[in-house]
Amino acid sequence: MGARPLLNRRLAGLGTTIFAEMSALATATGSINLGQGFPDTDGPAEIAEAAVRAIREGRGNQYPPGPGIPELRSAIAEHQQRFYGLAYDPDTEVLVTAGATEAIAAALLALLEPGDEVIAFEPFYDSYAACIAMAGAKRVPLTLRAPSFRPDLDELRALVTPATRLLLLNSPHNPTGMVLGPEELDAIAALAVEHDLLVVTDEVYEHLVFEGAHHPIAALPGMRERTVAISSAGKTFSFTGWKVGWVTASPELVAAVRTAKQYLTYVSAGPFQYAVAEALRLPDSYYAGFRADLLRKRDLLDAGLRTAGFEVYEPQGTYFITTDITPFGEKDAYAFCRTLPERCGVVAIPNSVFYDDPDAGRSQVRFTFCKRDEVLRDAAARLQRLGG
Ligand SMILES: Cc1ncc(COP(=O)(O)O)c(C=O)c1O
Repeated sequence: MGARPLLNRRLAGLGTTIFAEMSALATATGSINLGQGFPDTDGPAEIAEAAVRAIREGRGNQYPPGPGIPELRSAIAEHQQRFYGLAYDPDTEVLVTAGATEAIAAALLALLEPGDEVIAFEPFYDSYAACIAMAGAKRVPLTLRAPSFRPDLDELRALVTPATRLLLLNSPHNPTGMVLGPEELDAIAALAVEHDLLVVTDEVYEHLVFEGAHHPIAALPGMRERTVAISSAGKTFSFTGWKVGWVTASPELVAAVRTAKQYLTYVSAGPFQYAVAEALRLPDSYYAGFRADLLRKRDLLDAGLRTAGFEVYEPQGTYFITTDITPFGEKDAYAFCRTLPERCGVVAIPNSVFYDDPDAGRSQVRFTFCKRDEVLRDAAARLQRLGG
């Protein structure tokens, strides 16, 4: 095949995602997988039944409409109104995607030109780096630093250049659990308006905020017309394998994102779309119960990690806890995570791979707590073997 590398230059260096690598390690070693963020129990039985019913009744078994089935688009618009008082037209301002992952890809591929700069928090969810690279754009990291992981707004201001096209936000933030507060959102919104920037905001953990509340940036003055908000059923309803996500934005932005989306998957998950429409309409007690359940799990794992000797950064949201391994006399999170299975039968994710600045997150390790209580207790007991 000649000397030319098969993988194109834009994707060189991206390799296999850390989640695949660590999940494979968990399977190979029979370890408890607190690496990848997927629950070990499925979402509500009646929602699973709704998907089965849709398949049996022949709803969604053939290509659904490109923007998503009308029932789901209406349910998404209702959800935005019910939780945030945001009005979106289900026909022109909502787009259903193959998970938030496709929404992120389609938004970045649609909105970026080669050479555009995208400011994103680091540590960043790994698909951001890949999609910015695929668009030929440049990632400009705003480093979130321990222990609070709050964005430095002066630093953010200083990162904006004439080439900045887009702010890529993620709140609640994976992996740190940081949740942007109203004042931070006001400042970010003002900056976006001042420099006429687009905002793509990944809000997949919107229903997992343990302190304060989730505030969508699209609700702020001047933001609705420049914001692409992304969310997903995977996290909120514990059906990560269904891959039903969505975008809410102005008609112009939705049209742009849809243009890219239609050539990525065209459509996806027909019957699951009917089930997710029902899920979004679950009563408030579902959402409150989901949050309370995960809060209890957070506290369970948090206590276990502290007793084991980790420095623990308590998350305000998401289902991840970031820790620091320095108390064990260790500094390299990646090396630590590779040996963790043989040392104590647990798998975690090194945050260091989510930073451009190799020093910023070198000793940080992320654990997920979206697992059954007994699994978390077992993992906590195993981690005590580290002898920190
Ligand atoms: C911040 C963030 N965005 C997007 C996703 C992907 O969502 P989906 O499974 O709906 O594609 C995840 C999944 O872990 C995530 O943590």
